[in-house]
Amino acid sequence: MTSNTEKFGKTPHQSSLWTRADALKVRADDPTTTQPLVSADFPVLSNEVFIWDTMPLRDLDGNVTSVDGWSVIFTLTADRHPDDPEYIDENGNYDITRDWNDRHGRAKMYYWFSRTGKDWKLGGRVMAEGVSPTAREWAGTPILLNDQGEVDLYYTAVTPGATIVKVRGRVVTTEHGVSMVGFEKVKPLFEADGKMYQTEAQNSFWGFRDPWPFRDPKDGKLYMLFEGNVAGERGSHKVGEAEIGDVPPGYENVGNSRFQTACVGIAVARDADGDDWEMLPPLLTAVGVNDQTERPHFVFQDGKYYLFTISHTFTYADGVTGPDGVYGFVADSLFGPYVPLNGSGLVLGNPSSQPFQTYSHYVMPNGLVTSFIDSVPTDATGTQIRIGGTEAPTVGMKIKGQQTFVVAEYDYGYIPPMLDVTLK
Ligand code: FRU
Repeated sequence: MTSNTEKFGKTPHQSSLWTRADALKVRADDPTTTQPLVSADFPVLSNEVFIWDTMPLRDLDGNVTSVDGWSVIFTLTADRHPDDPEYIDENGNYDITRDWNDRHGRAKMYYWFSRTGKDWKLGGRVMAEGVSPTAREWAGTPILLNDQGEVDLYYTAVTPGATIVKVRGRVVTTEHGVSMVGFEKVKPLFEADGKMYQTEAQNSFWGFRDPWPFRDPKDGKLYMLFEGNVAGERGSHKVGEAEIGDVPPGYENVGNSRFQTACVGIAVARDADGDDWEMLPPLLTAVGVNDQTERPHFVFQDGKYYLFTISHTFTYADGVTGPDGVYGFVADSLFGPYVPLNGSGLVLGNPSSQPFQTYSHYVMPNGLVTSFIDSVPTDATGTQIRIGGTEAPTVGMKIKGQQTFVVAEYDYGYIPPMLDVTLK
């Protein structure tokens, strides 16, 4: 494999590889890495909107933070259309599956608040219509900056293009609830460069999104993770010995796996405010393994860097597979080398009997994992499903060295604060 140094000149690190050999170790339905079955009689947060990716308000160190005793989450959100003729099928029934599948095209950032870390109340849209420069407001991270209640919302402005942006506002609380004020000026930060991160011109199926800013606990600097694909024209990537890893005889054939080129990107801020960023080579690449490593995020624990990212069955390459869920890698320093948790990378996958029950898992530093319900079978054959668009039960997990263990299950959408900030 060409090293980063050959490709990009002097760089601080070599990307770590999630190899095909690692992925061959993925075992669906291992109880220690499988999400408990979600029952089809789940409650929904709202009959008006679908929600999916959930972004708890947090500080730059990753701690989930409440303000004046109010927990706050941001969600990707889209209206439900039960009465819209466009979503009524030939039998006169609401085609909720199609409505749900179309949601990405009209995703907007909403916020919710709660006194209990669950039973979320809808606050509303974060930005007024017309503030965000593109059609879609895709995932990112809301950061509570200080005790004045200032919030930087980093997110992805998509279609046209995909730009990592941020918008500053303020969280205001009363005895009765929470509101978001400001959020009026969206600042573009950066886009894929075509040298390290694949552009739309190189591949119309490219991914570049999901910013997750953080302060490195060791060097104190401001960085950002994001989802990308490795730069290069679609089909031009090489799946060589390094990407294959140490496979048994008979597993050398890589098929068409050159089309799967996911990576976890990283950028460093040139200023304290995070207005000026420099992209660095990917922290982790999955060329020949998987095409999407979405919503990357860290848990900093025991002096280690636990890197988590969500991925799908359908984005795996030829000859390797695994469940929809969250995957993880660990390193002793920010720039790696990263090794897959549990040998394979799989941390929490859907059970094979309900392969789409949840997605977009977010691992919090207290070991709780939130996700949303996608669809749950309502009959034994799995042909009938119930669409979710709501919060899944939270899972409790223990992280120990290079292993993780499912240990508990909590209520739907349980996202308790790790610290509370009293606003001045
Ligand atoms: C994960 C995801 C994110 C993206 C959003 C789009 O569920 O694919 O990567 O920002 O959903 O709806």
